[in-house]
Amino acid sequence: MIDIHLASTTDIADLDTINDEIAYPNPSEFMAESIDKGRIYVAATEQGSVVGYGLFQFLWGDTPLLSLLKVLPDHQGNGIGTQLLTAIENDLAGRGHKSLFSSTDKTNELSQRFHSKHGFEKIGELDMDHGIEWFLKKELPTRA
Ligand SMILES: CC(C)(COP(=O)(O)OP(=O)(O)OC[C@H]1O[C@@H](n2cnc3c(N)ncnc32)[C@H](O)[C@@H]1OP(=O)(O)O)[C@@H](O)C(=O)NCCC(=O)NCCS
Repeated sequence: MIDIHLASTTDIADLDTINDEIAYPNPSEFMAESIDKGRIYVAATEQGSVVGYGLFQFLWGDTPLLSLLKVLPDHQGNGIGTQLLTAIENDLAGRGHKSLFSSTDKTNELSQRFHSKHGFEKIGELDMDHGIEWFLKKELPTRA
């Protein structure tokens, strides 16, 4: 049984481990700052170890971007990425946001399949330092 909840500062070591394993090692300071702002959801096992996380930011202060979504290889394909995405979507929809942006490396076909399966559509691409990054968008369900 996997529990999805907001990350706390005690999760930083586990998040660093995931970042070391899945490209690329995002800075600890960025993870800590994102935890403080309530922008990381973690997936934890019953034993309490964190096996995945999703991190969102706000472009221009108000436009939600799914910046990072990572699940440890041994736990992939079990619905954990979907649960993390759902938690973030519910959080954002609950705050009145109407859409969610995301991005993925042009060569990351599994990620593209994951995004497409969850309703994201490609809206463009940018030539970044690391290569071509696709940008994606999906509408969030509106709340009464
Ligand atoms: C993309 C990622 C977060 C998906 O998490 P996940 O827990 O494996 O996803 P789920 O089990 O909820 O969904 C599985 C779907 O994701 C896709 N997928 C991505 N990676 C997969 C993997 N290693 N194994 C199986 N399915 C994978 C498939 O489309 C699959 O759907 P399908 O079985 O109908 O083909 C995870 O594979 C990962 O951490 N990848 C490395 C980092 C990355 O690329 N992140 C995305 C860029 S932001």
